[in-house]
Amino acid sequence: MSPKFMMLILLAMILALQFQVLKSCVEEERVGLLQFKEFVESEGYDADHLFPSWSGDPLSDCCSWERVTCNSSTGRVIQLSLNNTRKYRRCSYDSNWYVNLALFQPFVHLTTLDLSFNAIGGWIENQGTYLILT
Ligand SMILES: *[C@@H]1O[C@H](CO)[C@@H](O)[C@H](O)[C@H]1NC(C)=O
Ligand SMILES: *[C@@H]1O[C@H](CO)[C@@H](O)[C@H](O)[C@H]1NC(C)=O
Repeated sequence: MSPKFMMLILLAMILALQFQVLKSCVEEERVGLLQFKEFVESEGYDADHLFPSWSGDPLSDCCSWERVTCNSSTGRVIQLSLNNTRKYRRCSYDSNWYVNLALFQPFVHLTTLDLSFNAIGGWIENQGTYLILT
């Protein structure tokens, strides 16, 4: 192979990689979604059943996950339908949720966040202060 040809292949690979990054979700948002899933799990609910496509596979495109809508040109999450996530209970323990606000920090382009029917009692910040919703 000529060096010119190899350069072309390299260039094509770089372009393909950039295209993929543009198309798929942003890493911080993918991790943020998985953290929300972990939170639901930690509260005693079957999160794998609830979010079957929310995979830990780094190649999985979170824009194609259920309950997630991305802007197709930026690949940023713009809508999250996280309503009614207490469907599959595992344990008898059931109380109001206190959700860490930091969970939603990665979603800087979010315009719609639906958290209805989750019995959220309030919000906690990283410092441990409570913001009670009235
Ligand atoms: C997607 O992002 C582009 C660029 O920021 C913006 O112009 C467009 O209105 C967005 N579309 C939606 C559906 O939010
Ligand atoms: C969440 O709310 C949307 C919009 O109201 C509704 O279409 C959807 O069925 C709800 N999801 C669940 C799991 O209840």
